[in-house]
Amino acid sequence: MSAYRIEEILSDEFDGKEVEIRGWIYRKRRTGKLIFVVLRDSSDIVQCVVEKKIVGNEKFKELDKVGVESSLILKGKVRKEERAPTGYEIHVDDFEIVGPAYNFPINKDKSDEFLLDNRHLWVRSREMTAILKIRDAVFEGFHEFFRERGYFETQGPMFVTGAVEGGSTLFEVPYFGKKAYLTQSSQFYLETLIFALEKVYTIAPSFRAEKSRTRRHLTEYWHAEAEAAWYHNEDMMKDEEEMVVHIIQKVLEKRKKELKLLNRDIEFLESIETPFPRMRYEKLVDFANEHGVEMKYGDDLGADEESAITKHFDSPVFITHYPTEIKPFYHRPDPENPSVVLCHDLLAPEGYGEVIGGGERTYKLEVLLQRMEEEGLNPEDYYWYVDLRKYGSVPHAGFGLGVDRFVWWLAGLDHIKYAIPYPRTIRRLKP
Ligand code: 4AD
Ligand code: MG
Repeated sequence: MSAYRIEEILSDEFDGKEVEIRGWIYRKRRTGKLIFVVLRDSSDIVQCVVEKKIVGNEKFKELDKVGVESSLILKGKVRKEERAPTGYEIHVDDFEIVGPAYNFPINKDKSDEFLLDNRHLWVRSREMTAILKIRDAVFEGFHEFFRERGYFETQGPMFVTGAVEGGSTLFEVPYFGKKAYLTQSSQFYLETLIFALEKVYTIAPSFRAEKSRTRRHLTEYWHAEAEAAWYHNEDMMKDEEEMVVHIIQKVLEKRKKELKLLNRDIEFLESIETPFPRMRYEKLVDFANEHGVEMKYGDDLGADEESAITKHFDSPVFITHYPTEIKPFYHRPDPENPSVVLCHDLLAPEGYGEVIGGGERTYKLEVLLQRMEEEGLNPEDYYWYVDLRKYGSVPHAGFGLGVDRFVWWLAGLDHIKYAIPYPRTIRRLKP
C-alpha cells in the first residue's frame, strides 16, 4: 500500500477506508488501554487511536515509551470524528516506529534565543512550517510573474570587487591573496545582461554587514532583482505593483490556511490592489511631520521612522524623487531637477516599511562619470560598468525586492528572523 499525505485523507471520501500514513508524533496522550497520537506530516495533523488489544502488549508499551517527534508509519481505518483536532481520526491496526525520539528539547516555554539555537529542530513547528510554505508560494509567484512577462532568469557572481550600495556594509573576504567582497546586489551585472536579453531577473543572496539590530535587517538575505532595457521609472513601478499583487494572490490562493494559523489579517491582504499610491519624497516629509514623525528634507528614513510612518498607510506606497545626495551614484538625476533622482522605494503598510528599492539608471556617460566623481569613486574600479555607457547605452530601470522582508510583511511576522529558514544577523551564525 502506498502512503497518503494526511491532508488527502481528511475528507468524507476516506471515511471507513483503510490507509497508510507516515509522519512524526506531534502530541501523545495515554488513557488506560488507549494511546491517542496526533501525527503530523508536511501537510497537516490527524489524531490516531491506538488500542492495546489490537496492536498487542509489546507494541503498545513501545509506543508508550517514545516521545514527541518520533517518526512512525501506521496503518488503520479513517473515521469521521467531530471531536478530533482535524475532524477525522484513524483507528490504528498496526504501526512501526521508524526513528524514536526521547526528550525533544523544544516546548512551549522556551526562550527565543533557545529556539534560534535549535532552529534545525524548530523548523518542524506548525508556525515555522506555515511560514516556510508561504515563503515557497512567494518564490513561485516571482518566477511565474517574471517569466510570464518575458524576463529571462539569469545570475551574477557573489564574489565581487566593489560596492553597489556604499562601502559601509561590505563584507570583505580573503581571495587568494587578494581582497574580494560578498555582493550587496546583483544589479550591476543585471545591467550588463540587458544588452543581451533586454529583460532579466535573478533571485539570489545579497550580503550586508549591517551593524544595526532591527526587526528588518539580515546580513544575508534573498534578493529578487530585475532590470529592463528601454524602461523608465514609471514602467518599472507598473511591473512591480502588478508583481506584488500577483504574489499576494498566489499566497491567498495556496496558503490561506497557513495565514490563518499565523493570525494574519487576510481581509487586509485581499484589499490590496493596483495602482499603488505614488508620493514624492518631499511630500513624504510633510506626511511624516503631520503624523508626529520628525523629519526634515534630506533625511534618510531609519527603521523607526519608516515603521511609524507606514502605520498610517493602508496600501503599499511608492515614494519617488529622493534627494540625489541620499541615493547611490547610479540613480538617474531628474533632467528637470537634478537635485532629485528618478527612483522609487516601495514601503509596505502596517508599520513594515521598505521592501523594494529601484529606479532608472544613469545611462549617459558624462553624467555617470560626474556622479562617480562627486561620490569619490574611481571609474577604473567600475570599468565594466562604465563601458556599458560607451557601447550602445539605452535608458533602463530596475529594482530589488528583499524576499525575506516581503515574507515578513505578508505573513505579518514580528521579526524578519522568522521569515527565513536560517537567519544570519550580526549576532547569529548558527546553526
Ligand atoms: O534598497 P537596496 O539597498 O537597493 C539595492 O540593493 C538596489 N541595488 C536594488 C536594485 O535596484 N536592483 O536593497 C533592495 C531591497 C530593500 O528594499 C530591502 O527590501 C532589501 O533589499 N534589503 C534587505 N533585506 C534584509 N536585510 C537587509 N540588511 C537588507 N538590505 C536591503
Ligand atoms: Mg533601499
